[in-house]
Amino acid sequence: IKKVTTHQLQTMKDRGEKISMLTAYDYSMAQLIDGAGVDIILVGDSASNVMAGHETTLPITLDQMIYHASSVIRAVSRAFVVVDIPFGSYQGNSSEALRSAIRIMKESGAHSVKMEGGAEIKESVIRVLSAGVPVMGHLGLTPQSIYKFGTYAVRAKEKEEADKLIADAKLLEECGCYAIVLEKIPADLAKRVSEEVNIPTIGIGAGPHTDGQVLVMHDMLGITKEFKPRFLRQYADVGSMITEAVGNYVKDVKSKDFPNEKESY
Ligand code: KIV
Ligand code: NA
Repeated sequence: IKKVTTHQLQTMKDRGEKISMLTAYDYSMAQLIDGAGVDIILVGDSASNVMAGHETTLPITLDQMIYHASSVIRAVSRAFVVVDIPFGSYQGNSSEALRSAIRIMKESGAHSVKMEGGAEIKESVIRVLSAGVPVMGHLGLTPQSIYKFGTYAVRAKEKEEADKLIADAKLLEECGCYAIVLEKIPADLAKRVSEEVNIPTIGIGAGPHTDGQVLVMHDMLGITKEFKPRFLRQYADVGSMITEAVGNYVKDVKSKDFPNEKESY
């Protein structure tokens, strides 16, 4: 199988072929989504929410991200794998950013890292890129800054914030990032950014004009039931399938139907 590369992702944008990206945090799920042909697998710090049950992405640690990433990497044969550097492991300190990125690359075998922010993290982005580690940017709603925003509402609806976002996207491109996630911003702004930068943009809640799309796997599969924002398309009701299957198992155990003679030695 031919592995996806940053070069191929750029070619996809240049040809107008949309890029597909999904999150994964463990071996079994990563094997399924890689086998289904997704281009990029994101080991997102959304693991803090969907794996660990935290309210925000802030508590997850670098060690925990490396554990998730190494599990995913063992399963993947085609997709390009990007790992979030977690909160507190890069902001405001480019040496720490480099150290964190190198730990992720060495200890998990991942292909790339993602960091949230623009001008604020410029030095960290440059330092990590200088070590030969591909960096994906992330602008718009950046969940690691949720306490600064105070809400998960749509970002950059006003001109000032929209202008800063466009400037940040251009900066990330100049620094050498290979792609940028645009989270929860108006579709028109995402369109402008996607036209004004040459590198691929990957949207979540950013409309149809970005060069690719990303969703959190547990949300699109209907496993996380309580999270239903407008941008989410639910592709399956795996949550209900699990509830039904487990209910049937409990019933069969209680009624002594399971295991039967054929299922015994
Ligand atoms: O952690 C994550 O899942 C993400 C995506 C929502 C882009 O950063
Ligand atoms: Na993230």
